[in-house]
Amino acid sequence: MISVRDAFQKFRGRLELTQREQDDASRRQKDIRSYMDECFDIDRDFLTGSYKRWTKTKPLKDVDIFCVLGEDEKHYRSKPPAELLGAVEKKLKEKYGEDCVRRQRRSVSVEFDVAGQEDRVMSFDVVPAFDKDTHYEIPDAKISEGWIDTDPEIHAEKATAANATFSGEWKGMVRMIKRWNMEKDKPVRPSFFLEVMALDLLRPPFNGDYPYEFMAFFDSAADRISDAWPEPAGLGPPVSDMMTNEEKTRARQALKEASSAVREAINLSRRGQNGEALQAYRRLFGTLFPLS
Ligand SMILES: Nc1ncnc2c1ncn2[C@@H]1O[C@H](COP(=O)(O)OP(=O)(O)OP(=O)(O)O)[C@@H](O)[C@H]1O
Ligand SMILES: [Mg+2]
Repeated sequence: MISVRDAFQKFRGRLELTQREQDDASRRQKDIRSYMDECFDIDRDFLTGSYKRWTKTKPLKDVDIFCVLGEDEKHYRSKPPAELLGAVEKKLKEKYGEDCVRRQRRSVSVEFDVAGQEDRVMSFDVVPAFDKDTHYEIPDAKISEGWIDTDPEIHAEKATAANATFSGEWKGMVRMIKRWNMEKDKPVRPSFFLEVMALDLLRPPFNGDYPYEFMAFFDSAADRISDAWPEPAGLGPPVSDMMTNEEKTRARQALKEASSAVREAINLSRRGQNGEALQAYRRLFGTLFPLS
């Protein structure tokens, strides 16, 4: 039977992007880009967010594409963000279909039918952006200002630095924590919030023991979910502002349950019940967690 440590390493590997997923993402990015280019004045575009940072979990969906708008589209900046998001939504619907395109708070999502196909990206979030100094401004339909500043470069640098000081295990652990969140119907929203907490709460050095590190993370995240968590680049609104107090109470409970479940699994391992411990981790993290 596989050891707990090997099981976590295998699980980590299963949450990594495959070459075929990356090829599929790149192909669809090009397709979306060339269409966006036809419809709008686009300066440049790039894949970003957790996909680019390697902190995205599986199944692979909501890959972010920033489309940086050029001079001809600047007029949208002086209008409410709904105008720009609406214009992007309308155009994308014409190509990808009414049912596959949805306007969101800061982006427009495009879904693809990938039923039964492995290594395919299920959906993209198209984020129209404007250059601002050395970073970007993007629409935010839920705040009165209408626009937020963001710097995906800084987020990427912080994730890379955290990973380096955590023996290269930080990104893998973030993917696993996000997988737990998905498995439990997203008690924490957005999943970027979990990543931001992990910057603080996964304290280096990595002690080599995944269960202890997860237990400590879930425990401290439960304690601190109601704190104000600023956006790590110090540009956008706090990442903790998307959840209501009730949702945070529910999230605290879910995080506490996760911490207790890991503690019980550790006890099972101590008693030599390795198979039961693996089953317990699978209940927490889902069926991608290996039993053998
Ligand atoms: N409050 C914020 N202020 C500024 N930038 C933000 C904020 N929230 C998110 N971002 C940036 O926008 C990117 C895309 O946001 P999104 O919610 O898709 O998160 P994500 O990190 O890609 O996680 P997920 O795995 O859920 O897609 C983030 O990676 C981050 O760089
Ligand atoms: Mg994203």
